[in-house]
Amino acid sequence: MPSDTLTITDNRTGKSYTLPIANGAVRAMDLRQIRTSPSDFGLLSYDPAFTNTASTISRITEIDGDRGILRYRGYPIEELAERSNYLEVAYLLLHGELPTLSQMDDWIWQVTHHTWVHENVKKFMDGFHHDAHPMGMLISTVAALSTFYPEARDVSDVTRRLQVVRLIAKMPTLAAFAFRHSLGLPYAYPDNELSYTGNFLNMLFKTTEVKYQPNQTIERALEVLFILHADHEQNCSTNAVRSVGSSQVDPYSALAGGVAALYGPLHGGANEEVLRMLRSVGSKDRIPEFIRQVKDGKAKLMGFGHRVYKNYDPRAKIIKRMADEVFEVTRPSELLPIALELERIALEDDYFVSRKLYPNVDFYSGLIYQAIGFPVEMFPVLFAIPRTSGWLAQWQEMRGDPEQKIARPRQLYLGAGQRGYVEIGKRDEPPTGGG
Ligand code: CMC
Repeated sequence: MPSDTLTITDNRTGKSYTLPIANGAVRAMDLRQIRTSPSDFGLLSYDPAFTNTASTISRITEIDGDRGILRYRGYPIEELAERSNYLEVAYLLLHGELPTLSQMDDWIWQVTHHTWVHENVKKFMDGFHHDAHPMGMLISTVAALSTFYPEARDVSDVTRRLQVVRLIAKMPTLAAFAFRHSLGLPYAYPDNELSYTGNFLNMLFKTTEVKYQPNQTIERALEVLFILHADHEQNCSTNAVRSVGSSQVDPYSALAGGVAALYGPLHGGANEEVLRMLRSVGSKDRIPEFIRQVKDGKAKLMGFGHRVYKNYDPRAKIIKRMADEVFEVTRPSELLPIALELERIALEDDYFVSRKLYPNVDFYSGLIYQAIGFPVEMFPVLFAIPRTSGWLAQWQEMRGDPEQKIARPRQLYLGAGQRGYVEIGKRDEPPTGGG
């Protein structure tokens, strides 16, 4: 018997089955042969929220949650954050290798020359209410791009690379337009002489100056934040992109699904919730009371905990270190002392220690975004921009994987059995309350 197998005995029938183990996993489809009779459908695996299911083989991002390790295509996140820039990392994620000088020049040229959006996109954005959430605007406008590039429907076509460039290039433009719309400011157009993040700052904050000069510390801080957020293997929004994309819809529609998933408070919306939480705690002396509420299940410590990391999130470590540099050029954050004290108390408290709850990427990122001048509503948008390269790398990988059919899980049906239709008016009314 080969050692890389699993032998299971079905106690309903007494039969034994030997399943191969490959890469530390058994194939769920191998369970199908386990049945009680020829008409039996076969054994299913039940895994709501995919807590122990690998949905794909991937070669993009590696996480070792117990040791707090994150690597893109084999490169440690710490090295990339220190020495690389966002566009180089995006290239790495998409192509599997770091670019040569000429590949990098071409890549920057491509992205820089696709940052403009059709003028009708602006009109479309004008239709949103003045206080529309920018993430809602982003979901809609990313989806709307599919109507501007109908050729993207052919997902097997050579135009696929062009759609990838367009999405990475236009995401900051859409984000900045959403931001300026909420302020009632005219949209600022891209400046091709600036870096990816420098141009983003230009589109956000340019007012009457002839040429916007981004602050170098803030420009670099955004580069690092973008690198840290670029990919995170099969997270909720990436799973959404892969799932929607598995129907062979165009990448704009698939990514709109990803942005929507990222919007939620348990995912990319968490950084927004962290700021709200820190504000509502308000002062250090109220932290013990807040921790009590969390332990009683009445509140959640936002920015803490992770499905995969059972150790300090390596991204949070980098962001925490970087925060001081940013606060030197902005005003200091009045919420930072509360965050530091909250972290200190939580990391000593058995509730958090026993559950292996550590700060995640969202715990400190919001403080930096706030110091740069972003309203909290923009925080998840700032997550969506860099995650675009990860979504696209994962989407491309899925498109090239012959095993990835349309994503379609099974269910365990426990609802009513067959019953006859009763005409309306002849159905029993529920008993009225009160009395
Ligand atoms: N505060 C208090 N208790 C928590 C927290 C938290 N932030 N996170 C988890 N727990 C508790 C949870 O109640 C459960 O306790 P018990 O075993 O007594 O029922 C235990 O820890 C395990 O948590 P879980 O909810 O089963 O874990 P999960 O893997 O399903 O959820 C999570 C992971 C990230 C959704 C969750 O930790 C959470 O809601 N955190 C706060 C939101 C947040 O910061 N999200 C950002 C995630 S990182 C970036 C991203 O992906 O966008």
